[in-house]
Amino acid sequence: MSKIPSISSDTMTLTRHVLAQQKLAKNATGDLTQLLTSIQTAVKVVSFAVRKAGITQLFGTAEKTNVQGEEVKKLDVLANDLFINMLKSSYTTCMMVSEENENIIEVEAEQSGKYIVCFDPLDGSSNIDCLASIGSIFGIYRKETDEAPSPSLGLQPGNKMVAAGYALYGSATVMVLTTGNGVDMFMLDPSIGEFILIESQMKIPLRGKIYSINEAYENKWEPAIKEYVKNKKDPSKGKPYGARYVGSMVADVHRTIKYGGIFMYPITTDAPKGKLRLQYECNPMAFIVTQAGGLATNGKIPILDVVPTSIHERSPIFLGSKEDVEEVQALINQHAN
Ligand code: AHG
Ligand code: MN
Ligand code: MN
Repeated sequence: MSKIPSISSDTMTLTRHVLAQQKLAKNATGDLTQLLTSIQTAVKVVSFAVRKAGITQLFGTAEKTNVQGEEVKKLDVLANDLFINMLKSSYTTCMMVSEENENIIEVEAEQSGKYIVCFDPLDGSSNIDCLASIGSIFGIYRKETDEAPSPSLGLQPGNKMVAAGYALYGSATVMVLTTGNGVDMFMLDPSIGEFILIESQMKIPLRGKIYSINEAYENKWEPAIKEYVKNKKDPSKGKPYGARYVGSMVADVHRTIKYGGIFMYPITTDAPKGKLRLQYECNPMAFIVTQAGGLATNGKIPILDVVPTSIHERSPIFLGSKEDVEEVQALINQHAN
């Protein structure tokens, strides 16, 4: 006889989890909890919009380009507005850096708080219309001085982040979060509209069997990357790896954390600084992967140690299982000498 699914009377929701962590932290005011609640709301609405995009005419382009010259989709605009409006009304944030806004977004004094949030409201936009997984990414910093919001406040290195997370709108919606005490994963239960803890203290395998890179750019890579990927396919160098590349960083990084392996977006001759953005793609993911026991480097130094010089700065990135990242780093070093 099949068992009747049980309904818990003591569910660990994301809000409850963050509240418990807040109680453990010294001098906590509850602002971070409030901020994360506002992000949860934005993510829940984006998730709902993603699920209904085909029905509510949310597929397709918004007929404009963003600061990076990329085509903006209707869902990019909706997600960006949601993040901005929810964060502003949380009374916890003084300024924001968004992929979709050329300049910083300042919060008026009456609504202002002590945090700075950098976000990519909708990651993997090219996958919206074909229903492949997409996501949202955010990193949270503290404003450490009394100065008024300015772009320079958005230029803190990743190692100053107090929290980072991503939402993945995949076969289910999950939110993966770190506040610097490990990484936890929460799944959206649509029946109650709450994120429920499903995996605590996630750990990335020490080594994986998958490499993830846009291999169409092989001719534009540096020799070290060509050699690394060639080795991963060469049976004389060990069991060949599998290749996976969704083209949504959130999906590719989430798989890398769950199954192990490496995600790479190196520099190319077309993108001499890399493509992915340091402040709202590379840094939050680097914080999460590092907290899960993996590594994230730009090929020279840990991503989290890079001091940004502009809010939309790009960076190459190699991230994933410790041994896999060490292996590509060793090859890069060898080629540099
Ligand atoms: P976004 O949709 O926020 O612009 O990000 C797209 C990014 C990232 O998600 C992905 O890893 C990468 O672009 C894919 O780029 P390529 O198509 O050059 O491989
Ligand atoms: Mn992105
Ligand atoms: Mn985006």
